[in-house]
Amino acid sequence: MRLSLRFVLPLALALALVAWAVQPLVDRLTLRWFTRDLDIRAALVANTASEPLADLVQANAQQRMLAYFNRLTVDERLYAIGFCDVESGRLTATRTFPREIDCKSLAQGGAVPHVIDASRGALHVSSANVEADAKPLGRLVLVHDLSFAQRRSDETKRYVFLFLIALGGIVSLITVIVAQLSWRGWVQGTRAILRGEGLLRPSERIITPELRPIERDLRALVRDLESEFRPRDASQIPWSSETLRAILRGELGGEEILVVSNREPYMHVRRGSDIEVQQPASGLVTALEPVMRACSGTWIAHGSGSADRDVVDERDRVGVPPDRPIYRIRRVWLTPEEEAGYYYGFSNEGLWPLCHIAHVRPVFRPGDWKQYVAVNEKFARAVVQEARRRDPIVLVQDYHLALAPKMIRDALPDATVITFWHIPWPNPEAFGILPWHKEVLEGLLGSSILGFHTRFHVNNFVDTVDRYIEARVDRESLTVTLGGRECAVKRYPISVDWPPASAAGLPDARACRERVRARYQIGRETLMGLGVDRMDYTKGILERFHAVERLFEMEPRWIGRFTFVQIGAPTRSSIGEYQHFDAEVRALAQRINERFARGKWQPIALRIEHVEPPEVYEHFRAADVCFVSSLHDGMNLVAKEFVAAREDDRGVLVLSQFTGAARELPEALVVNPYDMDQCAAALHLALTMPDEEVRERMRTMRRLVSGFNVYRWAGRMLLDAAAMRRRGRVAPVTPAAVVPMRRGKITA
Ligand code: G6P
Repeated sequence: MRLSLRFVLPLALALALVAWAVQPLVDRLTLRWFTRDLDIRAALVANTASEPLADLVQANAQQRMLAYFNRLTVDERLYAIGFCDVESGRLTATRTFPREIDCKSLAQGGAVPHVIDASRGALHVSSANVEADAKPLGRLVLVHDLSFAQRRSDETKRYVFLFLIALGGIVSLITVIVAQLSWRGWVQGTRAILRGEGLLRPSERIITPELRPIERDLRALVRDLESEFRPRDASQIPWSSETLRAILRGELGGEEILVVSNREPYMHVRRGSDIEVQQPASGLVTALEPVMRACSGTWIAHGSGSADRDVVDERDRVGVPPDRPIYRIRRVWLTPEEEAGYYYGFSNEGLWPLCHIAHVRPVFRPGDWKQYVAVNEKFARAVVQEARRRDPIVLVQDYHLALAPKMIRDALPDATVITFWHIPWPNPEAFGILPWHKEVLEGLLGSSILGFHTRFHVNNFVDTVDRYIEARVDRESLTVTLGGRECAVKRYPISVDWPPASAAGLPDARACRERVRARYQIGRETLMGLGVDRMDYTKGILERFHAVERLFEMEPRWIGRFTFVQIGAPTRSSIGEYQHFDAEVRALAQRINERFARGKWQPIALRIEHVEPPEVYEHFRAADVCFVSSLHDGMNLVAKEFVAAREDDRGVLVLSQFTGAARELPEALVVNPYDMDQCAAALHLALTMPDEEVRERMRTMRRLVSGFNVYRWAGRMLLDAAAMRRRGRVAPVTPAAVVPMRRGKITA
């Protein structure tokens, strides 16, 4: 009721206003219409009367003329009539003829007023010449009563007003009814949703049995359309572990996935008489572990932990995560020779420096290559053993296993092999120095889908294929066809899980800050920088330390007020280049510390040891600045982990322009790690950045990483694989297979 009044009253007022505003318009219009009518009518009367009138004038019969005029004015509209004689200027007229009309001037050709406002109301005047034998006799003046026009106009106004009122009433009534119905429907719908029913329930009740088939068809159509578009529009999906599971269930028929990589997600390591579990420092593991937790399945990897053999079953399997197993690791054992040739030699002294522009010369030994081929075969065999069906989905990871995709496809032609290359792909010239470049390319092209972090690496790969092997390269769809097998080369930027499992159960930033500061004896007034890497020459750790040193030179106010904590996970330590690098890093940190140390304070706290992910996250939360200075990096997940850890929206990220992450996180302070002064300036800027700006930048980066998380990375690949499998089930029709139908014959 209240709603109706609130609506009807303003509407009534608005209509009254409209009615008031249209009055003069109605007056003007009716007057114009009636005047035009009377003009026509007067012309008609004048025409009819002119002949008898001419006779009467020529016969000089004035009395008869008057009688004639009186007869004519019996018509209620014709108010008066008169005749002005040209010769005598005499007026013969009815009694009612208005005095305002001057007969003499009329006789001399003067004009008459069109409308006279007389005391009895408006009068319409018109005149016409009366002639006999082309000789002018005088002017006939016809005066019509116009007051009826006023009456009509008043009547019209009344009707218009009433019409508007009625229209307003009807409109407001309909609107109120519709509003009430929609409100009720909306409330019911909301209640239904809250009850967990859904909006379609009420309509189901009103659908009559005859309409049920149509309804069913429509629903099926909507479902089809949804399933057609849902998978393709990955940007619309809110990505989480549940989404990934749903994709596996819905799009891939609940299939388990097989992951193959060199590095395993959990290593069992002997510590005295105990066995400890470690999560290796590896971007690959950081990304894939949450994916496997979501999808379950089998992860085939090199069993490299000192106690790995002690915990597996008779088929070399172990359930992980150790506290609550969700998926299993199938361990592949390597002999020391295999490990030396395949892992240390070909993978890490050959392919690794070949693909990273870090100015370390790659080494290619034929013996290493032989081991690389043999170990790839070993992994491919393990895949075939673990596959439960002839068309499994296999996710092959990284440069250690470049030959495995082709080997797997040769053994399981129906398998969908998704290979992801976690490191950069160089330009064709650089790649061409690899003596076995052809074999590596052909091995990778055994994949159904081959993924890189950036478009730049995708293009480099396609250019390399184009340069070195005989394959059909379609640059439009970015597919390469070799030996009848098509490989789609695509960009899938990798990311971290969201919310990060490693941060679960961690205290807030303030508590982390206190704990980490206490550990390194960093005072309250001192700001903290952080670097977390494997001890790898591609990570730019030396350049980072030089930048810290330069900061103290350029801005001495930071001496005693800024400490840089560097966590370095030992890695590939059998390789000479890595041993050398390790020694260089330690020496540089020591030199800088000796140069600037004051009392208890020292500029660089270097901690070279394995640190488990939760403790790394604690450091991320404690830091004021995180510095990622890679000289070349496919993506660099440390940058994204730092962002994911900062629930408090604090902390500044200084990020090398040579990481894939820099393309996604422009809100970081993006630097060239080779430019020492620029890096020092960026550190200074980060340490003095206003709090609001720090938060704004961090919030923007968090929005990106939360949406573009690792479930999206894996989900997009799986959706593409699902689409590919669907297409594969429909046998391609070649023109030769299309046989024209014979006329009149029905073919089965
Ligand atoms: C990079 C590679 C990974 C590798 C990781 C750690 O991120 O792309 O494949 O696992 O480094 O190196 P590591 O030799 O210890 O496995």
